Amino acid sequence: MTTAPEVRPLESDAEFQALLSAEYQSFFGFGQPASVLEGWLDWIGRDNLRVLVQDGQVVGGLGLLHFGQYFGGRSVPSVGISVVAVVPEVRGTGAGKHLMQQTVRQMAADGAPLSVLYPSTWAFYRHAGYEPAGARTTYEFNLRRLGATDTTCRLRRIGPEERRRVEPIYEQFACHQTGLVARTRMNWQKIFKGEPEDVFTYLVEGPAGPSGYLVYTHQEVPDKPYRIDIRDLVWLDESAGRRILAFLHQHGVLGESVRYDGAPVDPLLALSRVENQKIRYNHYWMLRMLDARAALTGRGYPAGVAGELHFELEDPLLEQNRGRFVLRVRDGQGEVADGGTGQIRLGPRGLAPLYTGHLPPEDLRRMGLLEADDASCGQAAAIFSGPRPWMCDRF
Ligand SMILES: CC(C)(COP(=O)(O)OP(=O)(O)OC[C@H]1O[C@@H](n2cnc3c(N)ncnc32)[C@H](O)[C@@H]1OP(=O)(O)O)[C@@H](O)C(=O)NCCC(=O)NCCS
Repeated sequence: MTTAPEVRPLESDAEFQALLSAEYQSFFGFGQPASVLEGWLDWIGRDNLRVLVQDGQVVGGLGLLHFGQYFGGRSVPSVGISVVAVVPEVRGTGAGKHLMQQTVRQMAADGAPLSVLYPSTWAFYRHAGYEPAGARTTYEFNLRRLGATDTTCRLRRIGPEERRRVEPIYEQFACHQTGLVARTRMNWQKIFKGEPEDVFTYLVEGPAGPSGYLVYTHQEVPDKPYRIDIRDLVWLDESAGRRILAFLHQHGVLGESVRYDGAPVDPLLALSRVENQKIRYNHYWMLRMLDARAALTGRGYPAGVAGELHFELEDPLLEQNRGRFVLRVRDGQGEVADGGTGQIRLGPRGLAPLYTGHLPPEDLRRMGLLEADDASCGQAAAIFSGPRPWMCDRF
């Protein structure tokens, strides 16, 4: 007899092994041996894994990561979704859709306002209400073309015992960006993963204290000496940015190129002499509004912008997300009250890119993801304006 598939936490080590096998089959194409995947699942933590069980068998699963994302200067709780997999023999039967839709319902019931993921395919995640809402842009450029020589600031290598000194530098930077992760210990563990002698960490010390850092590894490249893969890089002022560029330039003696995840229009590159930046990947992340009212009140808004938006939200999956409400914004803060005229009509797929500022309301209207009059579109464009949304953390 066929029973309805279930999505739930792991109940035994045998289920963990079955999930590991499903993940291995699904992600072996990425060239990862089973031990790497096991390490990845351990990093997520067994309590954060979910399995899809059909007729008593684990046929798929995923991982949940809890962090925040910065919007308008405030961190909004967000659940990152990782390692979504369904075994090949069950694919194409609606199992994956069930896994994602059930997970969305469970995350909403647990009170998370947002969920975010890096998709392998947009169409699949759209069934669960996710929509592209920001980017991770990977640049690659030749080290010798940086042409930077400013070594005014002090820059020194630090060991594991000093690593936590970079955290406040990151926070100071990230809270002014849109979509960047408000990191937990897990996110930092990922950045520093590996042997200390292979994960190079440098701190920039300006006259007023630490003002930047970079974390990178050397990567083998066929027929070339090596590439620098930057895992994390922050600079708070011009001289820190120029110091980091000069440091990278010095690797051009033997090193070939550098890879770097930056903003869609990245100011570090604007500071350099690299005129034609090669974009290796533009990996868009997708966002799901799980609790629109909490997400809208939890974020910050541009100072000096005041106004109100009357929403009518339709959500095929989440009943508590439906209905009319008014967002009132003033002094950088938002308040939500039920009711209003519902002048902006949209679903979770329209609200996600509007919320992050990934697409302006006029474009969302042209795409059929939002209905609104010109005045509401103009007001929404002002309220959701800010730096372009991006993210550099991997999960
Ligand atoms: C992606 C994956 C989880 C989908 O699981 P699945 O059980 O085959 O998905 P479903 O049968 O529930 O499909 C649901 C819908 O998504 C669509 N869909 C699924 N995979 C798709 C793909 N690769 N491209 C486009 N659409 C896709 C289906 O067509 C279906 O749409 P429909 O209802 O309109 O017909 C599965 O293919 C898998 O494990 N892939 C390998 C690992 C992977 O890529 N994971 C995602 C990492 S981000």
